[in-house]
Amino acid sequence: MYRTNTCGELNLKHAGAEVTLSGWVQRSRDLGGMTFIDLRDRYGITQLVFNMEADDALCKEARKLGRECVIQAVGRVRERSNKNLKIPTGEIEIEVNSLKVLNASILPPFTIEDETDGGDDLRMKFRYLDLRRNPMKNNMELRHRMAMEIRNYMDGQGFIEIETPAMIKSTPEGARDFVVPSRINPGQFYALPQSPQIFKQLLMIAGYDKYFQIVKCFRDEDLRADRQPEFTQIDCEMSFAGQDDVLNAFEGLTKHLFLRIKNMTFNGPFPRITFNDAMDRYGTDKPDIRFGMELTEITEYTRGRNFNVFDDAEYVGCICAENCASFSRKQIDQLTGFVKKPQIGARGLVYVKYNKDGTIKSSVDKFYDEAAIRKWIELSDGRPGDLLLILAGERVSTQGALSELRLEMGRQLGLINKDDYAPLWVIDFPLFEWDEETGRFYAKHHPFTSPKTEDISLLDTDPASVCANAYDLVINGVEIGGGSVRIHDKSLQQKMFEKLGFTDEQANEQFGFLMEAFRYGAPPHAGVAFGFDRWVAVFAGCYSIRDVIAFPKNNSGRDLMIDSPSALAPEQLKELRLKIDNRE
Ligand code: AMO
Repeated sequence: MYRTNTCGELNLKHAGAEVTLSGWVQRSRDLGGMTFIDLRDRYGITQLVFNMEADDALCKEARKLGRECVIQAVGRVRERSNKNLKIPTGEIEIEVNSLKVLNASILPPFTIEDETDGGDDLRMKFRYLDLRRNPMKNNMELRHRMAMEIRNYMDGQGFIEIETPAMIKSTPEGARDFVVPSRINPGQFYALPQSPQIFKQLLMIAGYDKYFQIVKCFRDEDLRADRQPEFTQIDCEMSFAGQDDVLNAFEGLTKHLFLRIKNMTFNGPFPRITFNDAMDRYGTDKPDIRFGMELTEITEYTRGRNFNVFDDAEYVGCICAENCASFSRKQIDQLTGFVKKPQIGARGLVYVKYNKDGTIKSSVDKFYDEAAIRKWIELSDGRPGDLLLILAGERVSTQGALSELRLEMGRQLGLINKDDYAPLWVIDFPLFEWDEETGRFYAKHHPFTSPKTEDISLLDTDPASVCANAYDLVINGVEIGGGSVRIHDKSLQQKMFEKLGFTDEQANEQFGFLMEAFRYGAPPHAGVAFGFDRWVAVFAGCYSIRDVIAFPKNNSGRDLMIDSPSALAPEQLKELRLKIDNRE
């Protein structure tokens, strides 16, 4: 038997018992004739003690043990004189009488501690060591507990988990596909699913009216802190359900997770705001509503004063930072530097200081008289002592920059309480998104999303204004999930493909099986998918989803530990009938 107990469970009740523990050497200390070893496993740390007077040879052996050696120790539990009340086992220690090295360890490249000295790359290369650290272990346990709660809750609501294939067909919409060459079908490729979207719709047609799956998805897109090339969704679909049914059902799941994992309850339904409202009030479709400082549009009150920056702008808007009129030149310059960063993209920042004594100072007072500036203050509910920060330019990008500035000010002013959670639904997304570069419409969500019935007639006349039955769940400024009511009618689906620029042949080639299925009695259906990694990260308080994935890829899409992706051997390429084009 390797162990009678774990390293996290012994306490004074066990005093006098003979136990066997196995684990890793966290650290060892020599004090006079004694050696103390902290022995660690998944459950905690227990102190082992070796006494030179009692057993000189054993103590010498213990002194040779390096960090991360795997050992087995047999001994008696006894009360500790120097108690550590911070850990559950801190009142006892094990007086060891026999020791066995199960496996030695070379010196680890970074310390296995909560605050490690290992840089990102090193932690990724030696991920199995990184995963030994408490913060990572806690994240893995949280992830597991959330998955268990999700499965139990969904099962209790009558949903069944059905697996869908991971080798499917490449489709042109959405992100780029990862593809897999087929050896037995030379020149042909499978694609890894970006989501099980079509399969879950086919399951609805098959009559499985409540489906869910915790499932891997794959997308070849630019990576960010909240994006991985392979990630996990909680994918869900319901038949005979519309938007409200889905929102209610999954608000239930969300509240269940908050209660069971964070011990938090929410009274009443989550706020629902439309996409347009979200953009106007927060400048983003994933607003962090833990604090105010909403955007105010002042475009029409800035025109005609010969200030070209505002006159030429499609949109002029501001945020009002309470009690910030005393900001120094340097602080304003720093904010200007912030909004001019390429990822924020503003060209400059205009400020208005509404001083405590009621006077006004602005960077544009050459162009605007006091009455004009007071109007902006009034529109944004400014009070003496406040600071208006104004940006101007193309509407969507300027709203986006103001949104970033709002978040930055929220952080700087300490307005965001990290223990606060503010979930909401964003609804009524536009059906299409226009792309300047390719000069065509794309589906804002995906091509299977249903327009609002009352907007169907606009599909031909004014596609840009068609609203979709689509919704997102947002928590603390993170898009946790998104879904929609689906099209379940062949002719409407055909029309949608046509609007997206597919020819009939292309639509048939890509999605013929779905259109065919629609002819065999497709029930009305709707669904949603949540980003499981993002949800765990939000609950764990992590910035990057990498911290809640056991073996993630780095920002270049590489797994540094197994060194992947990697080249194929010439024989493999030949077998797959592939040739590598090495030209730039
Ligand atoms: P969507 O593309 O919005 O919808 O994805 C759903 C949720 O998945 C998460 N997510 C990601 N998480 C980590 N890394 C990524 N690269 C990544 N991409 C997306 C987000 C997102 O909200 N089939 C539809 C859902 C539906 O209509 O039912 C879909 O996949 O949290």
